[in-house]
Amino acid sequence: MALDSMHSSLKFTILSLALLHFLYKPTCSTSRRVLDQVNRTQMGFRVALKHVDHGSNYTMLERIQRGINRSKFRVQKLNAMVLVSDKSTYDVESKVHPGNGEFLMNVAIGTPPNPFSAIMDTGSDLIWTQCKPCDDCFDQSTPIFDPSKSSTFSKLSCSNDLCEALPTSTCQDDGCQYLYTYGDYSSTQGILATETFTFGSDSKSQKVSVPNMGFGCGVDNEGNGFNQGAGLIGLGRGPLSLVSQLDEPKFSYCLTSIDGSKTSTLLMGSLANPKALSSNSKATTIMTTPLIHNPSQPSFYYLNLQGISVGSTHLPIKKSTFSLSDDGTGGMIIDSGTTITYLESSAFDQVKKAFTSQMNLPLDDSGSGGLDLCFKMPKDTTSLEVPKFVFHFKEADLDLPSENYMIGDTNMGVLCLAMGKSSGMSIFGNVQQQNMMVVHDLANESLSFVPTQCDEL
Ligand SMILES: *[C@@H]1O[C@H](CO)[C@@H](O)[C@H](O)[C@H]1NC(C)=O
Ligand SMILES: *[C@@H]1O[C@H](CO)[C@@H](O)[C@H](O)[C@H]1NC(C)=O
Ligand SMILES: *[C@@H]1O[C@H](CO)[C@@H](O)[C@H](O)[C@H]1NC(C)=O
Ligand SMILES: *[C@@H]1O[C@H](CO)[C@@H](O)[C@H](O)[C@H]1NC(C)=O
Repeated sequence: MALDSMHSSLKFTILSLALLHFLYKPTCSTSRRVLDQVNRTQMGFRVALKHVDHGSNYTMLERIQRGINRSKFRVQKLNAMVLVSDKSTYDVESKVHPGNGEFLMNVAIGTPPNPFSAIMDTGSDLIWTQCKPCDDCFDQSTPIFDPSKSSTFSKLSCSNDLCEALPTSTCQDDGCQYLYTYGDYSSTQGILATETFTFGSDSKSQKVSVPNMGFGCGVDNEGNGFNQGAGLIGLGRGPLSLVSQLDEPKFSYCLTSIDGSKTSTLLMGSLANPKALSSNSKATTIMTTPLIHNPSQPSFYYLNLQGISVGSTHLPIKKSTFSLSDDGTGGMIIDSGTTITYLESSAFDQVKKAFTSQMNLPLDDSGSGGLDLCFKMPKDTTSLEVPKFVFHFKEADLDLPSENYMIGDTNMGVLCLAMGKSSGMSIFGNVQQQNMMVVHDLANESLSFVPTQCDEL
């Protein structure tokens, strides 16, 4: 609590041009109406998302450092995936997915429903949970799902579209067996089946049951990073993901402030409509940009980033820096499971140069901030001026709130830019997505940002 209030007493002023105020109020009537009945055409549901450090008392900067540590591996994997030099050796068998994440959601599977906690992953597609009888299962906090005790469990045949969408599958007794790998020996293996999934367990939402969801019933599950949950909910762009299996292939999430105590929100299907969310608020801006497809990474949500401004300077970054190459490298993805934003190194160097020259504070190169660019900040600071930061996406200039890129720690006396450098691809991370409804619309192939006070949803 003390830390929370200390942090919130540090106020930023954005230098140059306009100050940004978000006056958004969510509309309760539309965003909370959930159908009980099964009608996928108009089905929507909401689920609470818990950050993996939820309930701990780390400071904002510590949470970000811990997140960077966790996502280090994810970022390496993401970059390695696109940087495979010899594409001919990169066959479907070796296809990997990031496979971990920063947010957990409660779901239930089967009839009667068996609750479990699952990792939400916007970088992969498969929905899976551990299943009995296990060949190799890790410890989970809830009982492992036993399909023989559920009246709605049904195996999928090998000719089913979902079986054919798997990167690796084999056919046994006309049942579809899958192997889904996440790189570095993490994998899940089992049978592809359908079940009733029940979503929505917080006080603000009704429970909604979705029948016949294709999922992996994993009997051999190996690797680190899964054990925060009992499985994973893939929200990628491929046909196996939760969003693709809904009739209205749309989802949005609204991530609360990283150091806040409230949970974040995931809205699926019809509830994810940005217009519905903003219908009562004239002050709300919706910024919509097209999603780009990368045939060699079909699960990822690629954005068209065309430039960056720091303060009043539009940085002289070469146009090709963020573009997706024909060989599948480059580009920028938006990801909920990566903590900070990583920019291709030549662009990051420009950002760093601009901040260094525009901030009126000395550099801190002690490394204590754990980030690439930090400044020394007087310990009694309560208010600071920082340059504004704008991502120029195609058709959408995203002017970030200052707390989405500058992280100050008054105890340590450091102020850091919550971004880093990468090579291979750029990644738009979750720190930059705080307090925005981020709407992924697979049918329209677009992504919208709607400034939102996420803890009031
Ligand atoms: C589902 O909802 C749509 C739109 O209201 C309606 O036209 C359709 O008849 C419903 N289907 C079922 C099976 O209830
Ligand atoms: C939070 O910090 C206080 C004081 O450092 C400590 O006593 C307490 O156990 C911590 N709580 C958690 C949940 O870590
Ligand atoms: C990050 O990981 C390294 C190595 O595993 C560890 O030494 C360091 O303390 C971690 N930092 C944080 C902030 O968790
Ligand atoms: C569809 O996407 C385009 C951008 O690609 C956007 O301008 C438009 O508003 C989107 N339509 C809807 C209904 O979201």
